Amino acid sequence: MKIAVAGATGLIGAQLTALAREEGHEVVELARSTGFDLLRPEGGDALEAALAGVEAVVDVTSSPGMEDAEAFFTTVARNLGQAATAAGASRTVVLSIVGVDRSPDFDYYVAKLAHERATREHAPGPVVLRATQFHEFAGQMLAWNTQDGVVRVMDVPSQPVATGEVARVLLDLATGALAGDQDLAGPRPERLVDQVRVLVERAGSDVTVEAAPAAPSMAGGSMLPGSDALLRGPDWATWLDRQA
Ligand SMILES: NC(=O)c1ccc[n+]([C@@H]2O[C@H](COP(=O)([O-])OP(=O)(O)OC[C@H]3O[C@@H](n4cnc5c(N)ncnc54)[C@H](OP(=O)(O)O)[C@@H]3O)[C@@H](O)[C@H]2O)c1
Repeated sequence: MKIAVAGATGLIGAQLTALAREEGHEVVELARSTGFDLLRPEGGDALEAALAGVEAVVDVTSSPGMEDAEAFFTTVARNLGQAATAAGASRTVVLSIVGVDRSPDFDYYVAKLAHERATREHAPGPVVLRATQFHEFAGQMLAWNTQDGVVRVMDVPSQPVATGEVARVLLDLATGALAGDQDLAGPRPERLVDQVRVLVERAGSDVTVEAAPAAPSMAGGSMLPGSDALLRGPDWATWLDRQA
């Protein structure tokens, strides 16, 4: 079938695009670098033309920064949803995060919840996949938050998941092999600050890792999956060993 991937060049989008093509699907890649700025409503006609014949749209876009994330996600969801509706697509899968409905004290999660709502409002056949943190997340925290030899990391429990599994479930939702909203997590809980400590130790780095206070909801476990979540391996430690 023909599938459009919004955010096709990103961490998840690139794996989803490759997996879909491997399994014989035709993929339309949407990103600024492929000529589609989804924040621009004036690009609507070109977008609608690109979506001709597309049965399912998957939205794995990400805002360039944390600021204005809500405006980014709601604008992308509206523009994409309206073009997908006009083009006659029947299903839209949006990638969100486990716990977005339980963390009103964390702005990015408020923005992702708005992303879900805008998708449900504007897109044809909306389906939401909420995933936990990706296995790469601890490394991203280390890279983004290190300053003057110190990295401050939120002290929160999470249950990270492999991005390959996120791509797998997104494709199954896009094709209809799996139906309805889903939560997806890895098999084992971790503490984010401990994951970063492991990364620093393994790298033989002299960066100091400090636990930083987190939003109360997150410190209390809002990022952990419920009992009905799909659990897919490998766990973080196994995944990390495979990266070496
Ligand atoms: N990190 C986690 O642990 C985690 C966990 C669960 C869910 N999520 C969610 O997963 C989603 C995907 O994350 P990711 O790490 O794969 O993102 P990413 O690697 O940052 O990729 C973002 C994609 O969005 C595209 N994009 C950005 N601005 C755009 C615009 N104006 N118009 C069109 N495309 C645009 C980018 O391409 P261009 O730059 O070429 O435009 C890129 O293809 C995010 O929504 C995130 O909230 C993340």
